[in-house]
Amino acid sequence: MLLMLLMLLLVSSILVCYAGNLNGDFDITWGDGRGKILNNGQLLTLSLDRASGSGFQSKHEYLFGKIDMQIKLVPGNSAGTVTTYYLSSKRSTWDEIDLEFLGNLSGDPYILHTNIYTQGKGDREQQFYLWFDPSSNFHTYSILWNPQRIILSVDGTPIREFKNLEASIGVPFPKSQPMRIFSSLWNADDWATRGGLVKTDWSQAPFTASYRNFNADACVWSSGASSCSSSSSSTSRPTSKSWLTEVLDTSKQERLKWVQKNYMIYNYCTDIKRFPQGFPPECRIKL
Ligand SMILES: *[C@@H]1O[C@H](CO)[C@@H](O)[C@H](O)[C@H]1NC(C)=O
Repeated sequence: MLLMLLMLLLVSSILVCYAGNLNGDFDITWGDGRGKILNNGQLLTLSLDRASGSGFQSKHEYLFGKIDMQIKLVPGNSAGTVTTYYLSSKRSTWDEIDLEFLGNLSGDPYILHTNIYTQGKGDREQQFYLWFDPSSNFHTYSILWNPQRIILSVDGTPIREFKNLEASIGVPFPKSQPMRIFSSLWNADDWATRGGLVKTDWSQAPFTASYRNFNADACVWSSGASSCSSSSSSTSRPTSKSWLTEVLDTSKQERLKWVQKNYMIYNYCTDIKRFPQGFPPECRIKL
């Protein structure tokens, strides 16, 4: 009996220790109490009301990594709200990998807006509808960033790939500036929903988005050097560095095509009106 109790204690302490803690990975950076880390570090929430939104950022900077976060977006009437989740180096010629969730009226689809900046230049927008309601449950949003490619995935399904084409056609690739994770919930009803036609209904405030199960298999930057040995996580998972060389296998490529065919609603690479002088170089080559 005593032995069983001891074993139980041991098991539960191991679980707690592996369960990690969002407090160790993130700082709430603005919002005057509207951002919160709850349940012993297992849950993070951001909220928005008429007076302010809120945001958080990672304590670490990363140079390459596979970074997963489960997010549950603002439910109900989320029109006018934008939940951002991105990596950025925030320097003068910055690199950035953007996901922005544009809210909508109840029952109307969110838009997942993506962009990739290299050395301060973005203009690489792709937008998607999702194949589920992202506000009814948590879903996993992943950024794989290794020296050869950036892959954005939703519940393991790739939605976008940005390859390192620096050597072949000279398009800069983010490879030397460490980036931090940022997230925010704010009001953008001047453009977010149907191009700004639908405004935020403040009678529904406060609006809340939730985050959990953060996992970063990543190279952590500290005092000018990058160390890939440590893995920072709020879930238990063995660390391997296969993500550093990961590519899309055939079945993932098929999934990517499925998403692009059925759920992509905007692609800068096909927006002829926007690029009358010719598409950006990464759009022109057959990938
Ligand atoms: C909101 O719903 C409308 C109507 O279905 C749709 O046209 C629009 O793309 C949706 N998303 C946003 C963010 O506007």
